[in-house]
Amino acid sequence: MSAPETFQIPLETAEIYEAKFVPALFADWAPHVVEMGDVTAGQSVLDVACGTGIVARSAAERVGPGGRVVGVDLNSAMLTVAERVCPGVEFRQADVTTLPFDDSTFDAVLCQMALMFFPDPTAAAREMGRVAAPDGTVVIMVPSSLDAQPAYRLLVDVAATHAGSDAVAMLSAYWTCGDLDELLTTIRDAGLDVLSTRTRMGTATFGSIDEFVSIEVESTPVRERLTDSEYDALRRQANDVLEAFTTSDGTARIPIEGHLVAARPS
Ligand SMILES: C[S@@+](CC[C@H](N)C(=O)[O-])C[C@H]1O[C@@H](n2cnc3c(N)ncnc32)[C@H](O)[C@@H]1O
Repeated sequence: MSAPETFQIPLETAEIYEAKFVPALFADWAPHVVEMGDVTAGQSVLDVACGTGIVARSAAERVGPGGRVVGVDLNSAMLTVAERVCPGVEFRQADVTTLPFDDSTFDAVLCQMALMFFPDPTAAAREMGRVAAPDGTVVIMVPSSLDAQPAYRLLVDVAATHAGSDAVAMLSAYWTCGDLDELLTTIRDAGLDVLSTRTRMGTATFGSIDEFVSIEVESTPVRERLTDSEYDALRRQANDVLEAFTTSDGTARIPIEGHLVAARPS
């Protein structure tokens, strides 16, 4: 997974994100994020860096018609798709560090798979705390560090063998906030009290190992490093070392460990 998320993306990319990546990977986490936020009927909920709104959709089911769900994202293309697929949810374009809401507006402020893309995660968490009610909950979900990822770790090792050791950084944007102690320090430095933490092993599903490898490698500059024959060799080796993650019908089931932290303004 690469880090183009911090830039404006074409509408087509946001449509692919919704059609392919949300069901493959992000939908698996959304109910757990909502659960961690103790979201109940009638509440007001903010989905921060909402993308196409998978967490907002899950929250909207919980709050029901008497509640309010708002999604915020920097990317207008993500929001265009979100507005289509999330009826009843409001969307606003904004940066996480300048949320367009008064203090203490929301019962729950939820942020899934995005903290690692923010230039200043502490400032982002502080702003999430500002818009949360004094007895409200902020939930931050991030993938754990690369060391804790059984399949991605192997893929990154193979990529480094073929494309050089700096391929590790190119393939590692998603894992950079994944050390739990550092994450808790960031959240406390933002003026939040940590209520609870949970570490969960989720699953991303791809059509095959080859599809998983091509999506991961081709969405990063690693692909440009390689000739076609070097890329073929990388794919062959990745297929070998990742075979254990294939099911009998050829589907790849890739484990992804992540941390969920619930916190409250102090
Ligand atoms: C990997 S996506 C996750 C989206 C969504 N939370 C989900 O689980 O599907 C990361 C999102 O963070 C958004 N993002 C990145 N930087 C941001 C910022 N500074 N302020 C608001 N959104 C931001 C991106 O536009 C992108 O939609």
